[in-house]
Amino acid sequence: MNPHPHPVDLVITGAQVVSHERIVSACVAIHGEHIVAVGDLAAMPESTHVFDATGLHLLPGAIDSHVHFRDPGYPHKETWQTGSGAAAKGGVTTVFDMPNTNPPTGTLDALAMKLKAAEHSYVDFGIHGLLGDDTVDHLEDLLNAGVSSFKAFVGNTFGNLPAPSDGALLEGFEKLAPLGIRTVVHAENSSIMARRQAQLVAAGRTDALAHLAARPAVCEIEAISRVSILAQWTGARVHIAHHSAADSLYLIEEAKARGVDITVETCPQYLLLNTERMMELGGVLRVNPPVRESRHNEPLWQALKSGVIDMIATDHAPHSIEEKTRANIWECDCGFPGVETQMPIMLTEVSRGRASLTDYVLWSSVNPAKAWGLYGVKGVIASGAHADIAFVDLNKTGLIEQSLFQTRSKISPWQGRAVHGAPLHTMVRGRFVMQHSKLIEDSVGWGRNIKGVQAMPTPHPRNTEHTSRSIVKTP
Ligand code: NCD
Ligand code: ZN
Repeated sequence: MNPHPHPVDLVITGAQVVSHERIVSACVAIHGEHIVAVGDLAAMPESTHVFDATGLHLLPGAIDSHVHFRDPGYPHKETWQTGSGAAAKGGVTTVFDMPNTNPPTGTLDALAMKLKAAEHSYVDFGIHGLLGDDTVDHLEDLLNAGVSSFKAFVGNTFGNLPAPSDGALLEGFEKLAPLGIRTVVHAENSSIMARRQAQLVAAGRTDALAHLAARPAVCEIEAISRVSILAQWTGARVHIAHHSAADSLYLIEEAKARGVDITVETCPQYLLLNTERMMELGGVLRVNPPVRESRHNEPLWQALKSGVIDMIATDHAPHSIEEKTRANIWECDCGFPGVETQMPIMLTEVSRGRASLTDYVLWSSVNPAKAWGLYGVKGVIASGAHADIAFVDLNKTGLIEQSLFQTRSKISPWQGRAVHGAPLHTMVRGRFVMQHSKLIEDSVGWGRNIKGVQAMPTPHPRNTEHTSRSIVKTP
């Protein structure tokens, strides 16, 4: 019997379909928002439209666990429309937005404002709620109202949100462990950094490398160590944001070996940039954590290859040109845009033989999908999954040009970089949001909260005895 009695909407022909395991010549049939068949042309159902993708590779759209779309609070830096448009142009079909907006995403009112702003998203999205001393009592309310996960700013950064106390962090993990919810941690030690920075400022340092001196790798080591201990004790799932240092990798390896459910992202800037570039670019490359000495680059690649680091995220952190180019390093806002450039930059590394295309799919899509409870619906081109597809031209070459960015933040440390390989079209749940490198403006607002399809695996909370947790006296 024909499994598709009426014509399906679309069949994509002629492409190579890529997963984390293999690359195969296959057609992809799509009906509505879903993929309904992948296989030989002869096995494809009848369709209303055919899209010839000869010469292109179809990758599951990238899932970026770390973006700052700035809305509400800083629309001069970015809005959901401009940020998600940049994602669409970068082959990114799902983003997770960070809570250091204004107001921060730690109350129901602030969350409602963010969800309203996200109605303008081109791409699907998750919302990281804020885990801090002031929010820890209503994490469940935030989850019920639409957040997918939480973020703890253990290290201070843009927005100046106070680091959660260790007590609040433990309490948050105790609450989230039985729910299986994962918490992203900005893993740097705030108190060390505040002290160092004050000393550097007092000594008159205003140069680019003073930023690194204020945030030595030991800050990352200490924070990862502390967080993995609390995660192990509670059984809570954690995710280390923007891993930057070679010296803290052993802690991740150990935590994973101890059975801690810890996932880790790094970003292109930590793999490919270092202090040499920081000295040339100054504030443009100021970011938290800082890019470090060149000795850190290669171990981060090795950690990706061995699975110690799970994925690539961008930490897309847009600011205006003026905010990035002040003379004094301490006055330059931290972070820079990345959601639009990640795929071409990483595909260029693939073209150089530093990683395979299947590795790239594992890091950019499969592993983030698994970490956030989306795998099967997202992260794969297979029957039953959302039709979230990056149509990639591996032969496309060019130079990164910040003035042409979709993001509002037209200043990037990647300016002028030669790239080899880029997404040409991007599809989100069956609908094109970019075609021939141009945003499809009619698709604004097509993005949807992933909350409805998120399914975190069965949790394994630990140390749940009343004697360990209960505040009220039990008989
Ligand atoms: C980010 C920002 O600007 O919001 N800045 C940064 O340097 N990475 C915040 C963050 O992720 O730390
Ligand atoms: Zn951060």
